[in-house]
Amino acid sequence: MATPAAAQGRRGTAPVPFRARLPVPQELRGAKLQIPILEADVQILPGRKTRMWTYGGTFPGPTIRRPAGHRTEVTFHHRLPAAAGELTVHLHGGHNRTQFDGQPGGLTASHPRSFYCDIPRGLSARKSGNDLLIEPGGRKTYVYDLREDGRPERAALQWYHDHRLDRTARNIWRGLAGMWIVEDELDRSLPLPAGERDIPLMIADRSFDRHNQLTDPFTGRRPPADGVLGARILVNGAYMPHHAVTPRRHRLRLLNVSHFRPYNLHLSNGAPLVQIGTDSGLMPRPVRRDEVLLGPGERADVIVDFAGAAGQAVELRSGARSDGRNGAGSKPYVGALMQFRVGSRRAPDRTRVPRTLRPLPGWTKHVSRAPDRTWTISIGGLFRPTWLINGRTFNPARADAFPRLDSTETWEIFNRTNVAHLMHMHHTDWYLLARDGKPPPPWEDCLKETFFVHPGERILVAGHFADYTGKFPIHCHMLDHEDHGLMTQFEVVKG
Ligand code: C2O
Ligand code: CU
Repeated sequence: MATPAAAQGRRGTAPVPFRARLPVPQELRGAKLQIPILEADVQILPGRKTRMWTYGGTFPGPTIRRPAGHRTEVTFHHRLPAAAGELTVHLHGGHNRTQFDGQPGGLTASHPRSFYCDIPRGLSARKSGNDLLIEPGGRKTYVYDLREDGRPERAALQWYHDHRLDRTARNIWRGLAGMWIVEDELDRSLPLPAGERDIPLMIADRSFDRHNQLTDPFTGRRPPADGVLGARILVNGAYMPHHAVTPRRHRLRLLNVSHFRPYNLHLSNGAPLVQIGTDSGLMPRPVRRDEVLLGPGERADVIVDFAGAAGQAVELRSGARSDGRNGAGSKPYVGALMQFRVGSRRAPDRTRVPRTLRPLPGWTKHVSRAPDRTWTISIGGLFRPTWLINGRTFNPARADAFPRLDSTETWEIFNRTNVAHLMHMHHTDWYLLARDGKPPPPWEDCLKETFFVHPGERILVAGHFADYTGKFPIHCHMLDHEDHGLMTQFEVVKG
């Protein structure tokens, strides 16, 4: 796939690797939060600042840290220029009512037609979900209960981002993304590294012109060649930063918010990554790994021990996949992302990784292996190709499946294209049962909500639909794919 971005990267003067400090976004812990969405000049590269669209003036936006089970209300104030059009905020990983789920909406006066969605003319604002969007100059309060199925939600690294119809890729590229950590008693009671030794890392790629401004890589890209790759990899909004750590265990909460690019992460000194969590929080037991693959939207919590690297510099790097899947959409970035500068002064470390973490919820024991429905991803359209799910593009008024409230269903997702996709389902966490009929590897034998589906592959997942009826999206988290038709909805209905 051609990347004009790569050429631009060469033109500007290359910033010195590992010179910038790792930014740690401001943390918000209140039950009622106000976050303005506004343009700001952000120090991303050395030299001139980058004009971005931000949550609260920074990129990433503030990290929201909240206890599970405690209602949280966030009011977003849309203060971007009117040309940005309507916005919508989705809390990715949350279990929320459809009106607070940050759904894409439909056509409006500022966005009068869509080339990739199949929205009937004259569809009412309410049917399109446009009443749930945030207009320029307006605001919306999202209510998050942080509960699911009668108990507090699972503690996890979630994230919030824009989700507007056809414009999600543009809006996130410009900066509309932030992290959200749900904590709970169990997670806090484990002897895991905490405080300064619990480090959320948001990985994003972006391309810049020689004035350090974001490029606009979106025009003229059509499926299947619509995956945008940025030339520079940013961690917490800085290019190849460094971070000082003590020679002890640390918890890294890794999140890939790139549009199309996966990362296959490892440490340069060969130390293992002990994975303790996924998209959906703690796994039943830790898994020791040499490398951790993260596609767009995926997360992994890993414990790394710097005790053996006192006085050294250790890089977090991404490399080619050892399973040989390095084709379109599967191919990771190759190179360093950031550097840990490990202090030489030894300090006692009372943390450890317990053998068991969090059991799977009860419903996972009673799942059927026969799919209740199949979602097939393909590509179609003669003059203007679009991505399709079960032969159709997105229409906000339509749902293609009607699971009953309080039921558990098994879904098959089949990728009939030559490009890998990262399928994400809103509403709940999903239990991965099989990849191409085979049991998943241990790090996927748990709950997640964003899944790699390789070309020709079929995955089997089970989900439990609790608490809320209404429509919820299913889509590819490669942002251009979701903007170009690779999205539909299911509607949870009363039993
Ligand atoms: Cu992070 Cu519907 O997406
Ligand atoms: Cu995709």
